[in-house]
Amino acid sequence: MKPTNPPKTYRVKSFGCQMNVYDGERMGELLTEKGLSPAPEGEDADLVVLNTCHIREKAAEKIYSDIGRLTKGKTQKKAPMIAVAGCVAQAEGEEIMTRAPAVSMVVGPQAYHRLPEMLDKAVKGERATDTDMPAIAKFDSLPQRKRRSPTAFLTVQEGCDKFCTYCVVPYTRGAEISRPFNDLVDEARKLIEVGAREITLLGQNVNAWSGEDTKGHKVGLAGLIHALAKLDGIERIRYTTSHPNDMDDALIAAHGEVEQLMPYLHLPVQSGNDRVLKAMNRSHTAESYLRLLERFREVRPDIALSGDFIVGFPGESEAEFEDTLSLVDEVRYAQAYSFKYSPRPGTPAATMDNAIATEVMDDRLQRLQARLNRDQIAFNEASVGKTCEVLVERKGKLPGQWLGKSPWLQSVWFEGEAEIGEMVRTALIEGRGSSMQGRLLDRV
Ligand code: SAH
Ligand code: SF4
Ligand code: F3S
Repeated sequence: MKPTNPPKTYRVKSFGCQMNVYDGERMGELLTEKGLSPAPEGEDADLVVLNTCHIREKAAEKIYSDIGRLTKGKTQKKAPMIAVAGCVAQAEGEEIMTRAPAVSMVVGPQAYHRLPEMLDKAVKGERATDTDMPAIAKFDSLPQRKRRSPTAFLTVQEGCDKFCTYCVVPYTRGAEISRPFNDLVDEARKLIEVGAREITLLGQNVNAWSGEDTKGHKVGLAGLIHALAKLDGIERIRYTTSHPNDMDDALIAAHGEVEQLMPYLHLPVQSGNDRVLKAMNRSHTAESYLRLLERFREVRPDIALSGDFIVGFPGESEAEFEDTLSLVDEVRYAQAYSFKYSPRPGTPAATMDNAIATEVMDDRLQRLQARLNRDQIAFNEASVGKTCEVLVERKGKLPGQWLGKSPWLQSVWFEGEAEIGEMVRTALIEGRGSSMQGRLLDRV
């Protein structure tokens, strides 16, 4: 590569899960500290960071078309310097360097604190790859967020030791690690200082988080939530994504004890059939999962439930798929995500026999989604008539319209006088598909 002038502006494009969004924000802040500024909307950036996701084939392949469009001037007028970050960088770093000569930097999700040094090299014309996994070093050297926002993500745990047979995360994000309790309380305080009233605790298995509180007592996620709830100015706490096997009594109880802990739980199940769950190495059964949800409903009867599903896992029969439909009928999710199984290189399931034909997967996905949509609509319709607080996150399309979230994570829009970052009380008056209309009652 030829030496170039140092880039003045940057853009970070994040794909995949919320942890990538968190990482993307931190990378932006590192680049800002280095003297670059974010490229204004609609304008060319000198440096583009593609923060990628490897979870399914489509997500992973997307980066090559994105790189193609950037270099051919289709995304912006002038081809930028390109960095590939995130989980594809971790899984296929070398391949990216060979396949995409336009890429200057490849940086894995645990190494991006080194992005500024890599940038210096790239300016000199040297391509650089860093996919080391140095425990949680990245968090120590990251600048804090400066942008004001009423909602914030806070990564508390990273990595996964579960090794579900279909999943790349244990390979791209490494082993489970928890960030120290005090660091998290400090970071939460700083987020509140820049306007956060709602904090979502993130982790690939967020409820596997554990640490020592200020008194040296060992605590789980519930202990952290109790401590964060005591901070001045925090009004809402959420956490995602949980694993059924890491749920403990204290976390379930917290839903009945901590006022700021929102009545929402995202608990992926993947399948409603025990043979399939076993082949997926999920180490829970449909029954144990259902019992767990019941316990949440006991302490918090209005809790909104969400889940993840995979259809067409190798060998999944029609009857086994129907067990998933039955589980959905029993749970009645407020909202859920569903995917067609995608074989991922290096995972045990990728070499399993009895792959399911695409048409069968399409059909199953459609049937599953029809039920999940039915339940989402029903949940929203059942919310009509309720009064709830909405945290205003942004302006709506028309003047005087505002958008925010209900405690149950529904998008709510309403009209009237309000401000971003304000908590308002609304009456929910109509449920439309995935969002709700509210009537402004008062500003709290
Ligand atoms: N740690 C979380 C979620 C990880 S990835 C958990 O275990 O629940 C998010 C979702 O992507 C998974 O819950 C699963 O539904 C889906 N997913 C993961 N690997 C997949 C694959 N190979 N094919 C299709 N969907 C997949
Ligand atoms: Fe992937 Fe399973 Fe770990 Fe979730 S628990 S990240 S699905 S391996
Ligand atoms: Fe994707 Fe990596 Fe998240 S694979 S879902 S970006 S952990």
